[in-house]
Formats: sequence, structure tokens, C-alpha cells
Amino acid sequence: MKDRIQEVRQNALSALEEARDEKAVADLAVRFLGRKGEVSALLREVSSLPVEVRPEAGQLANILKKELSSAFEAAEKRLAEAAAETAGTLDVTLPGRRLAQGRFHPLTQVCDEICRAFVRMGFSVVEGPEVEADYYNFEALNFPPEHPARDMQDTFFVSEKVVLRTHTSPLQVRTMEKTRPPVRVIAPGKVYRCDSDITHTPMFQQVEGLVVDEGIRFSDLKGVLAAFVHQIFAPDTPLRFRPSFFPFTEPSAEVDIGCVMCDGSGCRVCGHTGWLEILGSGMVHPAVFENVGYDPEKYTGFAFGLGVERIAMLKYGIDDIRRFYENDARFLGQF
Ligand code: DAH
Repeated sequence: MKDRIQEVRQNALSALEEARDEKAVADLAVRFLGRKGEVSALLREVSSLPVEVRPEAGQLANILKKELSSAFEAAEKRLAEAAAETAGTLDVTLPGRRLAQGRFHPLTQVCDEICRAFVRMGFSVVEGPEVEADYYNFEALNFPPEHPARDMQDTFFVSEKVVLRTHTSPLQVRTMEKTRPPVRVIAPGKVYRCDSDITHTPMFQQVEGLVVDEGIRFSDLKGVLAAFVHQIFAPDTPLRFRPSFFPFTEPSAEVDIGCVMCDGSGCRVCGHTGWLEILGSGMVHPAVFENVGYDPEKYTGFAFGLGVERIAMLKYGIDDIRRFYENDARFLGQF
């Protein structure tokens, strides 16, 4: 009898260990502890045993019943808790969530493309501070104090003599102070102006260019800028140079390209002129050379400055500059 009790115990416990859900445990409970179950059968058998072994067998059978009852209860509790934990938190049958792939911002891409075009022509890249001395942003570039040309650049002042640079042109001065000709650099970077509408943001990006050597002529400026435009836009894009004014260049010119939207026939984007302004340029003013200790009788040079957002807007047909800075992944993901 003892052996039978032991056998039922072993069977019940190992079956319970293998039960994987509440239903399996409930079925086993009926099989072992139910009214017609195996433990009840053992108890019934005890009453037919000889009197001298009956008490011990009865005791063992009752201990088994208690042990199994609490083992079943524990198993039920464990499975119920596990089920509650998974419910609502994890549905392993759902499709996985796709990870969004990162990429470079369109302005970073366009700025890199602009820089690559000049690096291919032998330019090297320089950088400088965004919080800039008045001297580098204005004075050394031949903007005298109180000169009305300063008005064109809606300046954020940090203090009386310190500004957020309004253009990348200070890098012309900083570069020439540090090196002797020949100079052939571009300077990409952020600039700041107190201005905001669909074509202006208070922070935007420019790429400055400067070439200085003996015998540099306006035709060199034209050749370099034409080669640049034909790398960034279509290779047959027409260019024109329009007389302009900047204190640090003489003569100065603004460069227009044939409108990339209407091919020059006139549209809303080009104000029905067929032309789009893309950059400012000119021959370095002798006063700037004097400020950095270059001999203006010996050296000549040209400089130019272009807006990265403007190039990107024209390249991709974007009509509102603010899109670049709103961080809408649906917009940024297209580039
Ligand atoms: N710094 C000028 C601006 O932001 C652009 C510019 C014009 C740069 C002529 C130049 C240049 O280097 O030669 O409006």
C-alpha cells in the first residue's frame, strides 16, 4: 500500500510539473483529487485493509491528499500570475515595429555637395566662430562704424563690440591674418540675422569663398563660379553677373542663374524675370588687404558668399525655408 501511495505521489507531481496552462492543471486535479480520482480511490482502499495496518496507511494517504492539494493550488497561482503578466503587454503574434532609418539633414547634404564641388577645384575648408568680434564681422571688411552698409545685415548684438556673425565673410580676414598667398579657401557655417519669413530664418548657413594670389582676375571668379553652378545645377544652366555693392569687394557682382523652375521663361518663383539670384561676389577690396597686411599692389583676389538654404530650395523646389527647421520626419525623409 505504501508503494502505491508513493507511486501516485510521483505521477501527480511530475504530471503537474509538465502542465503548461491552467486547463492542464485543472484536468490533473480531477484525475488525482476528484471524487473519482486516484487519491480518493486510495482512501477507499484503506478502509478494506486489515485493522493493524489501517491507521498508518490512512495517515499516509491523508498526508498525500494535503500535499497534492497545496501543490495544485500553487501551480494554479503561478500560471494565473504568468498569464496576467503577459496579457496586454506582449502579443507575440503582432508584426514587429520597423526602426526608422536616420539620414543626413538635407541642408547638411547640400552643404557637403557645395563644399565637394570647391574641394575638387583645389579649395580647402576653414571654419571660425559664430560669436564674432565686430572687428572681423564688419570693421576689417571695410564696414566703418556707423556705415549704412551695416544696415543690410540685421545684426544680433551680444555686446557693443561682439555680434552673432551675420555672414561667413569674417573668415576671409581670419584666414588672411594667418596665412600668406596663395589663398584658396571655402568657409561653410551658420550665420544669424534678425529676420524671419518664408525665405528667411534667424539662423541660416552660408559658404564663403576666397582666392588670393598674384594676377587673379575677374575672369577667374567667373570661371570658378560657372564650374560650381554647373556641378550643382544642370551643366547648361546660364549665369549672369549683375553689378552690386559690398564694402569688402570692388567691383562687386551678384550672380543669377537661369530660373531652374521655368527654364528662364518667367514664373512666380523668379518673379517673372527668368533669373534667380544665388550669391554675392567680387574682387577683394584693397582696404581689406591692407587690414590683413597683404600688399594690394602685389596681390589681387576674389571672394563670394552663398546661402545654403537658398541653393537647397532651388535644387529641390522647396517654397518655404522654415520646412528645413521644423524637424518633420515626413519632409526630411524625402532627401
Ligand atoms: N557676405 C555677404 C552677405 O552675406 C555675401 C558676400 C558678398 C560674400 C560678396 C562675399 C562677397 O564674399 O564677395 O550678404
